[in-house]
Amino acid sequence: MTWYRILAAETLAPLVGKSVAAVQEELVRPPKSEMGDIGFPCFQLAKERKSPPAGIARELAERLALPPAFTQAKAVGPYINFFLEPVRLAAETAGAALADPAHWGKSNAGAGKTVVVEYSSPNIAKPLGVHHIRSTMLGAALARLYRARGWKVEEINYLGDWGTTFGQLMVAYKRKEAETPDQPVDVHSLLQLYLRYHAEAEEDGNLADEARAWFKRLEDGDPEAKRLWSIFRDESVQALQRLYARLNVHFPEEGYRGEAFFNNRMDATIGHLRAKGLLWESEGAQVVDLDAWGMPPCIILKSDGATIYATRDLASAEYRHQTYRFDKSLYVVANQQELHFRQLFKTLELMGYEWAGKCEHVKFGMLAFGPGVFGESAATGSTRKGRVVFLEDVLDRAVEKAQALIAENARTDEVRMSVGRLAEQVGVGAVVFSEFTQRRTKDVSFTWEKALNLHGDSGPYLQYTHARLSSMLRRWGGVPNAGAPWELLAGPAIREIFLKLAEYDDVLAGAEKENEPSLVATYLLELSAQFNRLYTDKENHRFLSADELKTSAHMALAEAIRLTLAGGLELLGLAAPEAM
Ligand code: ARG
Repeated sequence: MTWYRILAAETLAPLVGKSVAAVQEELVRPPKSEMGDIGFPCFQLAKERKSPPAGIARELAERLALPPAFTQAKAVGPYINFFLEPVRLAAETAGAALADPAHWGKSNAGAGKTVVVEYSSPNIAKPLGVHHIRSTMLGAALARLYRARGWKVEEINYLGDWGTTFGQLMVAYKRKEAETPDQPVDVHSLLQLYLRYHAEAEEDGNLADEARAWFKRLEDGDPEAKRLWSIFRDESVQALQRLYARLNVHFPEEGYRGEAFFNNRMDATIGHLRAKGLLWESEGAQVVDLDAWGMPPCIILKSDGATIYATRDLASAEYRHQTYRFDKSLYVVANQQELHFRQLFKTLELMGYEWAGKCEHVKFGMLAFGPGVFGESAATGSTRKGRVVFLEDVLDRAVEKAQALIAENARTDEVRMSVGRLAEQVGVGAVVFSEFTQRRTKDVSFTWEKALNLHGDSGPYLQYTHARLSSMLRRWGGVPNAGAPWELLAGPAIREIFLKLAEYDDVLAGAEKENEPSLVATYLLELSAQFNRLYTDKENHRFLSADELKTSAHMALAEAIRLTLAGGLELLGLAAPEAM
């Protein structure tokens, strides 16, 4: 909560006969800053006291004991509006950022609480498709956000590392081995195996049985099947980790507990369901009846006695609670699985787990490609036909494009010499940031023009603004000071920036509350736009001038903006280049 809201509420509370917290809830930001920085509407008091709100506002304004952080409190129609004292505003925002950069915007609101964030969770044994970037980046941003808010965060990558796909791969692998023994396996040859299996299965109806037989061997613990499974899994995880490193995503070792890990924990879960009398037979299968909640039954055991996705998710939810005693457990998974998670959480509730209510499906929309982004192939194309767009290829293409963009705009040797590294940061940043350009439940429509637009609402635009601030500070060469002569900075545009900086911690709080990293992205875009407007208005405004004292105040403000951008970009998983 912004410091001045608290202050305004404390000042008003005794006069209006409400608690400080209640007054805080009612405070609003006036539509124009000329009208004040924070306002209190008097409608409710008017109702209670049966007198017009404007009169009450005037009366309150007269009786207020104004703290020095405000220069004025005045009645504006039915509101009483407070005006912040500019030096105090600067000191509490930019000054605070410079005094303690590591904690700027952060909070310990979540201290003592644990959140489990499950994200990415791809089905493995094939390269990562581009659509996986959604869960991966949203989840990683949420993990960092909760950490910045003081929570203990447990990151989980619930790999889809079990299922008939593995049987299919084994069939293709054995066939290929018969032709060329001792072939090495990597994630691309796995894809070839996968494609080979599906091509041959179309011709040969027996292949599906063969694949099922191999999967059965795997389930029964056959050593050769297990050996192959381990090779396939290890290769996939290594390939994943190479890709995650490019995205600034890092799961701890024990975070990789996928579906396979829960295979031998299923009996306990089924036992719990049975003990609660929740299992019913339906067409040979064992199910939990969810009819009363308007949902289809949750299948636990198929008619052949095999467990399924939902069974493993129940076991894994129990495990997560036992292991982490979480206060919140988030599942960052696409909208399409909404029903699955409603069934899952309801079943956990029926099992008597009070913590079922702490589980939440953090859902998101699709990543759609504009025409021509990747030829005719769509991101949702099928892997089987070899038509899926791989994330790695998208990142490579983005880096290539970023390289051209940077080379074209490079104005210093410093930039020209580091084009390679910059292109990686900017290209990946462009793709990553597109994940945050909409509220997460909406679909994202991706085009290169939008993603790489240096002047539009893009990741590269934020990175460019950060680089611009950094270069300016380097040119100045001084050390920005928390105790800068703030009184030398004036004007409505400057004031707007300080007010924007004052919002930062509230924005992070809101993003946590709504599990919505896009709020951070929007904020950074607004802050950047404010700064860039001022920076390019060279006639009326100069950050660097002959007036050394004034310049030092400007540079302190610039550094505070830079720190905010760097912190926000880091939360979202983007690099903050020093020059561009
Ligand atoms: N592996 C699944 C898929 O790719 C997503 C897993 C989501 N998480 C979960 N706990 N069910 O569709």
